[in-house]
Amino acid sequence: MQTLDTVPAMQALARDTRAAGQTIALVPTMGALHEGHLDLIRLAATKSDVVVVSIFVNPTQFGPNEDFESYPRDMEGDLAKCREAGAHHAFLPDRSTLFPDDYSTYITEESVAEPLEGVSRPAFFRGVTTVVAKLFNIVQPHIAIFGQKDAQQLAVVRKMVNDLHFPIEIVAGETTRAPDGLALSSRNAYLTPSQREGALGLNRALENIKTMVAQGERRAERLMAETTHLLADDRRLRVIYVAIVDPSTMKKQIEVEPGNSLLAIAVWMDQTRLIDNTLL
Ligand code: PAJ
Repeated sequence: MQTLDTVPAMQALARDTRAAGQTIALVPTMGALHEGHLDLIRLAATKSDVVVVSIFVNPTQFGPNEDFESYPRDMEGDLAKCREAGAHHAFLPDRSTLFPDDYSTYITEESVAEPLEGVSRPAFFRGVTTVVAKLFNIVQPHIAIFGQKDAQQLAVVRKMVNDLHFPIEIVAGETTRAPDGLALSSRNAYLTPSQREGALGLNRALENIKTMVAQGERRAERLMAETTHLLADDRRLRVIYVAIVDPSTMKKQIEVEPGNSLLAIAVWMDQTRLIDNTLL
């Protein structure tokens, strides 16, 4: 596996790869890689000739009081994992390469990005769409893979790609979970064993709601109230939002439309912010 850290080197590689008639898949990440990321890399390898993983902790998507400084970083371990999972190239720009001091151009998606995460993290999606658009221009992939774990991010990126006519296919990878059901996340590293135990309430709530829907319950109000009630089982879990929305637009639904509804949850487990979701 080859590592690259400059824009010209990455663009030259993209040009040569395309000239040789090969397809490129990009898996954008912020590092601290876990099995969820690696599943996306493996999925990318089944869909294209060349897999590029980008690792960049993007300062523009963190709010002033968020965890940019303390975000887990493990470059050595990450590169070994990328190689193992079948990546061909790792793109590792540093901050001044992507966001030099005089940087001033941003992309905002103004509809899908508004609710849910957009409410509690106002700068977040602007940072995501900006860095993802930059990565698309640098890596020039045919395909880019994003996790269903961050369902709103996936929807925002799809909308941006459609609105701005990027010639790129966005592929969703399923959420990878630990054996106990907790969705893998780089931020799980912040949880103590006891907090981790409590965080399982998230997955239990999702499973319960899926069962209620399978048994015929369709009223969003009823399902959201039940979810909130289940989450309250652990006093350390504070609900940020529980919502039933259209998975493409993130607009609230009054009734579940089986096959076209998403239950999205964000909570604080003590000081750690966790999100999870399920398609209903
Ligand atoms: P990061 O949190 O590192 O996630 C990188 C990719 O891995 C995202 O597409 C995310 O949805 C996916 N992912 C995370 N946990 C997962 C899990 N348990 N199962 C499957 N996929 C999972 O998301 C970002 O970075 C950034 O916002 C980024 C898109 C790289 C832009 O900076």
